[in-house]
Amino acid sequence: MAMTDTDPSPRPSRILALALLFLPALAHCRCGADTGGGPTSPPGTETTDPAAEPPDPIREGFERELAAAYPSDAPTPTGSRELELRAAPGATQQIDGRLLNVWAYNGQVPGPVLRVRLGEEVVVRLRNDLPQPTTIHWHGVRVPNAMDGVPGVTQDPVPPGGEFTYRFVPKDAGTFWFHPHVRGAEQVERGLYGVLVVDDAESLPYSRDEVWVLDDWRLAPDGQIDPRFVTRHDLAHDGRWGQTVTVNGDAAQRVSVRPGERIRLRLVNTSNGRVYRPDFGSLDPKVIAVDGMYTARPLPLEGFELAPGNRLDLDIVIPADSAGQTFAITDRFTRRPFVLAQLAVAGEPVPTPSFDPPSNPNVPTWAGAAERPVDETYVLNARRGGEHGIQWTINGRPWGEHEATQLAEGRWVRVRFENRSARLHPMHIHGQFFEVIARNGEPVETPHFRDTVLLHRRETIDVGMVPLDWGRWMMHCHILEHAEAGMMTEVHVGDRRRGSLPP
Ligand code: C2O
Ligand code: CU
Repeated sequence: MAMTDTDPSPRPSRILALALLFLPALAHCRCGADTGGGPTSPPGTETTDPAAEPPDPIREGFERELAAAYPSDAPTPTGSRELELRAAPGATQQIDGRLLNVWAYNGQVPGPVLRVRLGEEVVVRLRNDLPQPTTIHWHGVRVPNAMDGVPGVTQDPVPPGGEFTYRFVPKDAGTFWFHPHVRGAEQVERGLYGVLVVDDAESLPYSRDEVWVLDDWRLAPDGQIDPRFVTRHDLAHDGRWGQTVTVNGDAAQRVSVRPGERIRLRLVNTSNGRVYRPDFGSLDPKVIAVDGMYTARPLPLEGFELAPGNRLDLDIVIPADSAGQTFAITDRFTRRPFVLAQLAVAGEPVPTPSFDPPSNPNVPTWAGAAERPVDETYVLNARRGGEHGIQWTINGRPWGEHEATQLAEGRWVRVRFENRSARLHPMHIHGQFFEVIARNGEPVETPHFRDTVLLHRRETIDVGMVPLDWGRWMMHCHILEHAEAGMMTEVHVGDRRRGSLPP
């Protein structure tokens, strides 16, 4: 069993703290009968009329770069994949083979890997057999807004015994995941998460394509999931860190591979709070996708961290002469490194498939982006108060006290996250991808998109982004306890053509 450090950084806190939920689970949906992602009625605030602004050739150049990098619309569907997900309590042989009471999709933790091909419509019927309301959020997938799974914002929560059908055509191929957006700190921790792989229209000849779901578990002395969620300790720290780490539910994950195999390995961090920095030693994998989206070129893994919500797709070649060896994959995020999983090489060598790794050479470079004015600033901090005793705040206010940020579809913006606290905050924006353009004021070149970026203590990160997807989207810390204690707000992307924002 991987016993690990649960507190990676020295604690700062003079913070008081305590417990509870995610979104206002029972708030009534404000979105009316919006099911298609289009505007219902137009009483929203007007966006700035782009025609009234002075021309800005640099910004417009950035917008054209983005337009070449990812599509604004989904492909016309070639077919449809119908899937069922039943969320229910159950017992599984997680971790070390003993029975563990979990909440699971289709009885499995991790939930099923849903695999569809780009161009297929995804139709998922969710049945809720949990004792709580729930929803499914498709993390990183640019879905029509009404399919985003956020109670009180895009849909009503699905009550116990209820059903809801999610229907969307993915716009991007890649590694995504799904999880509830109601009481996330409890429902995700109990085991409700799964992976959605959207395959490219044409597959690449990897020897194998694997998904590794990284999660950690805080178990009580009886070996079951500790039922104290969103504790004062979790809130004063980086959320809930468990003492047992699993890969695909197994604390001693060991995969056997053949010499010469070329593997596409998709890492997904579904932990509530834990961050990983996987080290593959001499295997030296290349990063080919971050948060589902292809990088401009293969990148060294060195320096990549996998915060809650993040995905990394790796291209790994098992050396042809390594039969009999075992490669350990070690987590080095905390002061106490530990083995996450092992690759045991055995059998006759296979020929290594030779092809260029997938990439997106059009990822914007946005040269000079860090010299542009900052359009929006989000200061991340904590304050006393609220039902937990501590609130995690954005610009001094917790969820429920904000005006949504209004952004115009297709317009490049520079967004600043300024972490004034000593804790970690992986900031996630629904429905859009962005690119890091500066860290602590220093321009950086990042040849890839993200949907979640980790802010270390007192760090400032600037991102550039061109929202293309209309709707009311959440922006929040993906440490689920921080989100539940307020670190969450809304970003509204209005339609440039119609000039209106979501109601
Ligand atoms: Cu995986 Cu609102 O997030
Ligand atoms: Cu946070």
